Amino acid sequence: MAEVILKDIVKIYPYVDKKPKKSLFSKKVEAPVKKNNLQITDRGVVAVQQFNLHIKDKEFIVLVGPSGCGKSTTLRMVAGLEDITEGELLIDGKFVNDVEPKDRDIAMVFQSYALYPHMTIAQNIGYPLKFVKVMGDDGKPRHLTKEEINEKVLRAAEILNITEYLERKPKNLSGGQRQRVAIGRAIVRNPKVLLMDEPLSNLDAKLRNQMRAEIIKLRQTINTTFIYVTHDQTEAMTLGDRIVVMKDGFIQQVGTPQDVFEHPRNIFVSGFIGSPQMNYFDGKLVLKEDGYYVVCNNGYEVKPNDDKQERLKNNNVKEQDIIIGVRPDNLQITDEGVKGLVTVSELMGSSSHLHATVEGKDVIAVIPTEGVYKNYMNQELTFGFNGNVVHIFSKDTEKNLEFDLEVTASEFKLEEEPVKEEVIK
Ligand SMILES: Nc1ncnc2c1ncn2[C@@H]1O[C@H](COP(=O)(O)OP(=O)(O)O)[C@@H](O)[C@H]1O
Ligand SMILES: [Mg+2]
Repeated sequence: MAEVILKDIVKIYPYVDKKPKKSLFSKKVEAPVKKNNLQITDRGVVAVQQFNLHIKDKEFIVLVGPSGCGKSTTLRMVAGLEDITEGELLIDGKFVNDVEPKDRDIAMVFQSYALYPHMTIAQNIGYPLKFVKVMGDDGKPRHLTKEEINEKVLRAAEILNITEYLERKPKNLSGGQRQRVAIGRAIVRNPKVLLMDEPLSNLDAKLRNQMRAEIIKLRQTINTTFIYVTHDQTEAMTLGDRIVVMKDGFIQQVGTPQDVFEHPRNIFVSGFIGSPQMNYFDGKLVLKEDGYYVVCNNGYEVKPNDDKQERLKNNNVKEQDIIIGVRPDNLQITDEGVKGLVTVSELMGSSSHLHATVEGKDVIAVIPTEGVYKNYMNQELTFGFNGNVVHIFSKDTEKNLEFDLEVTASEFKLEEEPVKEEVIK
């Protein structure tokens, strides 16, 4: 049983004024590469801020976002491997900001599964149990016996389907098997919370799909709260009960995969979740007597469905310039719509991916082949979409106008104040 609450968490890495590094191979001074737009204050680089999340017992939470957005930092703060600059971390109601990692009852699996090469798989999995103490019959804490350790190792190995390799050394296993051993080592102690930081990133595509399914099964077998970090939206969508989309240290949206996919709160989320990526067209939102209309630059009009009408109306959305978002599989070849020249036509099996240029922008349409592949290369096509699938973003704020709440960050305030049970020192 473990509930994890992160309240107003901030992480600032102190700004270290490094001397420009001279490369070993050239006399040139290398310019630092700026990858993202993290806020920099006089206290340092703000890697995570305004992070509010209430993770329920046994929930599978996925933190997802591009490299450098603060996923690992957040996870490492939960694990206790990184100091929390501001805010409160509560595990099962206990304030644990200052509790040592080993006392948090948390296990972590990393991308690079460092196994001990000289130990067998069984010894690798059982290693963390050497430090576990239980209350003995005489009322004194004691270490686990060999038999107790063997039993737990066997149980973990059974869950992960690696019993036949227990006597082997890591070098005699494949990448996928080794990652399973690393997971085994994490679950053997029965942790309250299992943290995973990009555990599948080092595996090849096929193995990654297989291991993803294994993690879903693992989740059904062990009753633990999972916090899983990935930059891969497919992993996030398939594994998470809820996903937390992050960018530049801020949460962008928290929700079920379906909610995030169907109702992305801003353009960033809409583009990050879903593959191939959402398409965007410039246009206007027009309010007529019978409701809102989305009007493309060439005059093509689509009336958003009733749910969207209602949300726009409730938010009192005014006529304005918008960015129209449509997912590739929601575009059809029709008589009316936006016009584009097909530059690439790829047969993907049951569908083809058409890359077209619409008003100077690249657009992808996924068209079902229905058994007959047509090559549309170099053809001028018209792509239409309907009012159920149109996403309406403010051109100004890039927010979804159906959900244009006050400030993005305040959406993620905790609903209730967490109740602190006691403070462990
Ligand atoms: N020890 C550190 N000192 C200074 N900056 C760091 C440190 N670790 C991470 N950062 C910076 O914090 C940001 C977030 O990093 P991280 O949490 O590792 O991102 P992610 O896991 O999402 O790729 C990055 O810009 C990174 O450069
Ligand atoms: Mg990371």
